[in-house]
Amino acid sequence: MDGNGRWAEARGETRAAGHRAGIEPVRRVIRECARLGVQALTLFAFSSENWRRPETEVAALMGLFMEALDREVEELHANGVRLRVIGNRRRLSVRLQQRIAEAEALTASNGGLCLQVAVSYGGRWDLVEAARRLAARAASGALQPSAIDEATLAAELQLADLPDPDLFIRTGGDHRVSNFLLWNIAYAELFFTDVLWPQFDETVLAEAIADFASRERRFGLTGQQRGTGSEGAS
Ligand code: IPE
Ligand code: MG
Repeated sequence: MDGNGRWAEARGETRAAGHRAGIEPVRRVIRECARLGVQALTLFAFSSENWRRPETEVAALMGLFMEALDREVEELHANGVRLRVIGNRRRLSVRLQQRIAEAEALTASNGGLCLQVAVSYGGRWDLVEAARRLAARAASGALQPSAIDEATLAAELQLADLPDPDLFIRTGGDHRVSNFLLWNIAYAELFFTDVLWPQFDETVLAEAIADFASRERRFGLTGQQRGTGSEGAS
């Protein structure tokens, strides 16, 4: 979800105002994904690297997370959404950690949209944490290093219980992944749009999904093997 700052600056407003304007599109995209029957949605709200932003901006963002949790959790719960926060939550305030834990406990057995919000998250951090847990098990003798395979590692990641994302959307015009779900997006289709996050809506989501639907996903096989007739092995 990129572009809040530029959206605000273009209007002569503060970056914090841009982040506030980014809340409504979050509500809309959650509602629309639930309506469309999307199984899982993961929103990148705050990266491991975003901690290096000015203290006032970090504080404004943390305040907004707290506010959004307070205001939205009941409605998410009523709509059957299962909410989880992924990332290094030890860096968050104790109060925010508590609120997150409460929201997760409340919605844990909901069967609707699986909503993950990545806060203080980095794909490299996720992989390092997984490696550390595997190493601890190996050191204790519970796990043979030779038994470690892709499934063993994937099972230690933050999205262990979810299928790999099919579609990755980045707003704000930059064409990079910026340390989001590095392992999980190995075969995701990437969609980039110049639309700034505060302007994101159902129409842009529909455009991304339509674009996704037009792609040929070969997963390393040839088009012929996939029964789609065309060649290639990407
Ligand atoms: C929101 O957009 C992403 C967050 C880290 C909250 P930005 O704050 O990165 O907006 P730009 O890129 O400066 O426009
Ligand atoms: Mg940005």
